[in-house]
Amino acid sequence: MDRQQLVVSDLDGTLLGDDPALARFADWYEQVCERVALVYASGRLEASIHESVVTTNLPEPAAIIGGVGSQVRCFRTQSDLFDWPTAQPPHWDAVAIRAALSPLSHLELQPDEFQSDFKVSYFLIDATADDLRAINAALSHYGLACELVYSSREHLDVLPRGVNKGTAVRQLARHWQLDEASVIVCGDTANDLAMFQQGFRGVIVANAHDDLKQLAGENIYLARRSYAAGVLEGLLHWLK
Ligand code: GLC
Repeated sequence: MDRQQLVVSDLDGTLLGDDPALARFADWYEQVCERVALVYASGRLEASIHESVVTTNLPEPAAIIGGVGSQVRCFRTQSDLFDWPTAQPPHWDAVAIRAALSPLSHLELQPDEFQSDFKVSYFLIDATADDLRAINAALSHYGLACELVYSSREHLDVLPRGVNKGTAVRQLARHWQLDEASVIVCGDTANDLAMFQQGFRGVIVANAHDDLKQLAGENIYLARRSYAAGVLEGLLHWLK
């Protein structure tokens, strides 16, 4: 990576949500793209992220982190940037996960287009900590060690243990030999939470969910503006 700074942003509800603000973000990015690399980190899978880049004002990113951290790919070539998740994560078996969770009737599998080899996703409305514990217990009972990411009070993503947006960004920064201080992460919901727990600087947009806003502190800037305008406000704060 020849650029000194890495900006990793979520898409839905963060860069996407206000088209005129996104257009202003894109104008700004054009001026700094030689020194700032841009990466999108989304719950969506690669094909869906590509479609958004082609059909909106989103600038072309250097790489994408798709499927809540389970894919890390070069945007142009669509090839993996490194071995991730490591070839056969221990205890990962998507078919066995579906079977283990099938008795839990409050879990509704998301449509096939949202599933991948390393991501099993459900709709789950207003889950409590006890509900999540029960899901963990059902998986452990079958020896399945997974990462559970619950966000927006409606999405449950089951991922290989240790895989989330945060660990994916950390691996990518290591791959490009960028230190923590050179990485800024931006987001709005709980599936972004892990990105803010890696020691990077952060930007939380004003429209973010409250659980994320509570993270605001020395390294995490809470923007006054929403969506792409909030991202830009935060980046100008950190890059001044
Ligand atoms: C995106 C994905 C969905 C996932 C959600 C939260 O909406 O399409 O599968 O559950 O993000 O991570």
